[in-house]
Amino acid sequence: MNSRIVVGICGGIAAYKTASLISKLVQSGERVSVVLTDAAQSFVGPATFAALCDEQPFSSSFDPRCALGPHIELASDCKMLVIAPATAHMLSACANGLASCLLSTLYLNVECPVLMAPAMSTPMWEKPAVQRNVDQLRSDGVHFVGPEEGWLSCRRKGIGRMSEPETIHVHCRRLLVP
Ligand SMILES: Cc1cc2nc3c(=O)[nH]c(=O)nc-3n(C[C@H](O)[C@H](O)[C@H](O)COP(=O)(O)O)c2cc1C
Repeated sequence: MNSRIVVGICGGIAAYKTASLISKLVQSGERVSVVLTDAAQSFVGPATFAALCDEQPFSSSFDPRCALGPHIELASDCKMLVIAPATAHMLSACANGLASCLLSTLYLNVECPVLMAPAMSTPMWEKPAVQRNVDQLRSDGVHFVGPEEGWLSCRRKGIGRMSEPETIHVHCRRLLVP
């Protein structure tokens, strides 16, 4: 039976907001596992997610907890993969089928709905290469929430702000309804 939600966190400032999303999912009764990219670990620490989920987050493709590899074992009972924040780099890896880290390999291996919440600067979001990757992912069946207009960590306003945890949570609930 599919029982867990996997939340993948990429390397952007918005990663700190994902702790709040995870708390909301846990409070609504979900079992949550977390995958942190290497870059994400420069923004947020594993202790926060270990405490929120009662489970150490996954970062390595060679995690000793998973003999078959976490990309297999996390996918086997995953009912939804949420990637928040989704960086330009991760959008590209997923759109192009690159199994270059645990999270992009897991993306290739899951059979459940995938929800991505991009976050990046306005120039990055508007770059044709990024928009091509988003279009590709949409046509591959990936769901998106945001990005939204607002204050960006590069100290200007514009499109690229990750949707608020409450908004992402609402999208998660909608996707979980059979
Ligand atoms: C301070 C800082 C903030 C960053 N914020 C973002 C961001 O919001 N969105 C993004 O796409 N990349 C951002 N980056 C760049 C990513 O961290 C970088 O592309 C990294 O390789 C992403 O790796 P990942 O997708 O595996 O997490 C930022 C980098 C730094 C140093």
